[in-house]
Amino acid sequence: MRKIRTYIFDLDGVIVDTAKYHYLAWKNSANQLGIEFTKESNELLKGVSRIRSLEIILELGNKKISDAEFDRILNEKNKNYLSYIEKMDASEILPGVLDALKWIKENDGKIALGSASKNAKPILEKVGLMEYFDAIVDGNDVSKAKPDPEVFLLGAEQTHSKPEECVVFEDAIAGIQAANNAGMLSIGIGEKEVLKEADYVFQNFTEIEIEFFEKLENN
Ligand code: G6P
Ligand code: MG
Repeated sequence: MRKIRTYIFDLDGVIVDTAKYHYLAWKNSANQLGIEFTKESNELLKGVSRIRSLEIILELGNKKISDAEFDRILNEKNKNYLSYIEKMDASEILPGVLDALKWIKENDGKIALGSASKNAKPILEKVGLMEYFDAIVDGNDVSKAKPDPEVFLLGAEQTHSKPEECVVFEDAIAGIQAANNAGMLSIGIGEKEVLKEADYVFQNFTEIEIEFFEKLENN
């Protein structure tokens, strides 16, 4: 194992479970378009940008719309999504995440966010985690989507770290690939069968023992 000093977190599905709100908001848009949208279809949108998400929904429904209608739906979906975000609080932080963030801070590690979401900052503010982050790289800062490593390489740059000193926590396959492409250690949060390409996989943060973090830092 290599010596880790910087911890890069994906947001949706790692720190908070916002997939349920994306689902409700996209379902509303899809239904308006006469497209059936299920929880299974929602899985296809994890880690995927807002624009690409709508393209996937249109592909699922075999439907074409004008550019103006495309933009209108994107705006409406985001407004709807933000109405759910508005009600979020610290109770929505996923189990074990806060303890992990505290441990990293107490041990002088750096913490960065690497998310495709353009709503990352309001979400971190709502759940009260802003103060933990030394750098926030989100959908407003990148031009290339995961599995491109851009988002994580920017996180390394902004924390003055080398890629090999960084570990990435991710719940999406494309996110694990992005971490691997960046030359960083990749830790999957979710199912081993799905996140096969990750260096390590845990169901959630309560499964990660302090000894594991100690090993990352002290090797
Ligand atoms: C994350 C989520 C995706 C979402 C994307 C953009 O990657 O996993 O489901 O589509 O962010 O989010 P935004 O908040 O910008 O619409
Ligand atoms: Mg995610």
